[in-house]
Amino acid sequence: MALAMCLAPVPGPAPSAAEIDAAGEIAASARIDASGASPAVVALGAALFSDPRLSPDGRFSCASCHRPDAAFAEPGVARQRGRDGKLLATNAPSLLGLARRGPFRHDGAAPTLAAQIAVPLLAANEMANPSLAAVAARLAADRATVSDFEAAFGGGPTEARVVAALGAYLRSLTPEPSPFDRFQAGDPAALSPAARRGLTLFRGRAGCSACHLVDGDFRDGRFHDTGIAARRMRRPFPDGVRPSQGRIAVTGAAVDRFRVRTPGLRAVARTPPYMHDGSIRTLADVVRYYAAGGAAHAGLSPLIIPFAVDEGDVADLVAFLEALGETPTVPVSAAPAE
Ligand code: HEC
Ligand code: HEC
Repeated sequence: MALAMCLAPVPGPAPSAAEIDAAGEIAASARIDASGASPAVVALGAALFSDPRLSPDGRFSCASCHRPDAAFAEPGVARQRGRDGKLLATNAPSLLGLARRGPFRHDGAAPTLAAQIAVPLLAANEMANPSLAAVAARLAADRATVSDFEAAFGGGPTEARVVAALGAYLRSLTPEPSPFDRFQAGDPAALSPAARRGLTLFRGRAGCSACHLVDGDFRDGRFHDTGIAARRMRRPFPDGVRPSQGRIAVTGAAVDRFRVRTPGLRAVARTPPYMHDGSIRTLADVVRYYAAGGAAHAGLSPLIIPFAVDEGDVADLVAFLEALGETPTVPVSAAPAE
């Protein structure tokens, strides 16, 4: 059932009863390895993550849309293109700190990591495998891959093992050490004066920490209407792809229309463009969006409150957000806005 539910927003074949059973088995095996995956399982998961054999035509791996060299997002791309050549409705997020996240996806449609891993493997507009068993069978055709699975699990590729290995790898992706962490650990010089002013704004007048809690990954585990999904309804995608209406897709409750999960902000400078629809190009524009009070409409969260900023304040908040990750070695280009 969970698998069927999380596949609902993407057009594609309904999962068969066997696949739904597999999801239960997969969830169970993912829980087991959450309690301590062996290094061999994590290494196998890392290899699978970048393995194009995960897609039937060998054109897509997970790393196609979640680049390991870019905080596991795809900088510069507002919406990813799937195997059917069409753009998805949402932006691929960073996968750092995934172990502390969940439910998964911007609308929380995937209750477990195992359920979420099945989505890109099966969705018609992502990798489009006919079943998880087909993925395992493709991997089982290669002797070297079979021995890697045997070394990790004591047996060859199965659907549950493919998902468990990917899950163990994803859970191992911890956020990169940042200037902010060194500052929190007691080194005041780790943050520039601008970033320190930005932190004061973030916690104070700008009101950001009401939802992006200043600890861990800067999330609150909740869903809020920040006006982005509502604005997208008024500004449909030029290619006609149906935009997300947020959490309502999962709960059916009118109050959840346009509510989206608060994303974490670790390494955020490395993953433009921003928001679930990739509609904001730069961090400075994100700050200006909030300062203007978001996109006004009836359901807007009362926690989105306009605040006065000059360009110095914008630069300070951006300096703080940049200090939540490594500085990219190559400047990240902004994406075209739709
Ligand atoms: C065609 C591009 C594409 C491919 C290929 C892809 N993903 Fe994603 N991924 C996305 C997008 C877009 C989202 C955001 C979904 C949403 O919230 O609507 C996402 C979301 C996720 C999430 C949820 C993150 C969160 O914060 O909730 C996980 C986990 C994930 N992907 C893992 C994977 C794995 C593992 C693979 C390979 C099996 C994979 N992805 C392949 C585009 C892709
Ligand atoms: C009412 C809760 C709330 C408040 C207050 C808030 N945010 Fe957010 N933030 C969210 C949610 C929810 C999203 C996801 C919106 C979407 O994807 O449509 C988000 C998205 C973001 C993103 C994009 C992250 C990404 O990877 O795409 C950034 C950056 C951000 N917020 C920074 C800030 C800053 C800076 C402030 C203060 C000026 C702030 N937020 C205030 C809830 C909030």
